[in-house]
Amino acid sequence: MALNLQNLEAVAKENAAKDPSDIIRLALTEYSNLAISFSGAEDVVLVDMAHKIGGDFRVFSLDTGRLHPETYRLLDKVREHYKIDVEVFFPAPGAVEDLVKSKGLFSFRRDGHKECCGIRKVEPLTRALKPLDAWITGQRKDQSPGTRAEVPVVQNDATFGSPDSPLIKFNPLANWTSQQVWDYIRQNEVPYNELHDQGFISIGCEPCTRPVGPGEHERAGRWWWEEATQKECGLHSGNLREAS
Ligand code: ADX
Ligand code: SF4
Repeated sequence: MALNLQNLEAVAKENAAKDPSDIIRLALTEYSNLAISFSGAEDVVLVDMAHKIGGDFRVFSLDTGRLHPETYRLLDKVREHYKIDVEVFFPAPGAVEDLVKSKGLFSFRRDGHKECCGIRKVEPLTRALKPLDAWITGQRKDQSPGTRAEVPVVQNDATFGSPDSPLIKFNPLANWTSQQVWDYIRQNEVPYNELHDQGFISIGCEPCTRPVGPGEHERAGRWWWEEATQKECGLHSGNLREAS
């Protein structure tokens, strides 16, 4: 089965108020060839929900080579806890070597993060998504009012899919708040990233993530030297088009 592409907006509206696990169930029912994109942060709730539903799903993570040790530890903890494989995609070595040779290891601080994210995240994501019909992400509206306020629970991914090879993107947590995610993690004793106990909320690569202070928005801890409305790294760049 598969959802009708022409009807996705209506499906998103119909399901907007549903529990995230109902959206995951819908995804698993409609697509056998799908994967959860797991960053090693709060989106571990997606893995927990899919595991409880059962059925066939894959989980992948993009290892940029710049993640925190705590994130690597969580990836392995998740493997052991759920007895699942977490497929890890790495950047193309030659591209990283060329970037580091020409611009050093911290070019993103001077030039913006697009180039480094392009090599370390977007290209590996393109490879991870190529064989899939659908993917599941942990994006939420409340993560980034500047770029994610319109994220629907399901959408046609025009960035990584094409008319000949459509790709459906499920965002089951779109309408959940951070509080709901954390209530779920605590109530269900879901393994989580130790960095969350150290003041980190949104977690990406080590050099581009910091804890946030009282009253600061979670996104303020990511690429803090850049403009808030540009804080998408290319994984979800469709959000920038929709916001503009
Ligand atoms: S990012 O684009 O700014 O880095 P964010 O950290 O908010 O994304 O995470 C949103 C969702 O993108 C995650 O829930 C996950 O589905 C996906 N994602 C982000 N980073 C990764 C990663 N390293 N590996 C796999 N998926 C990721
Ligand atoms: Fe590079 Fe930072 Fe992007 Fe990670 S988040 S890929 S280190 S620019």
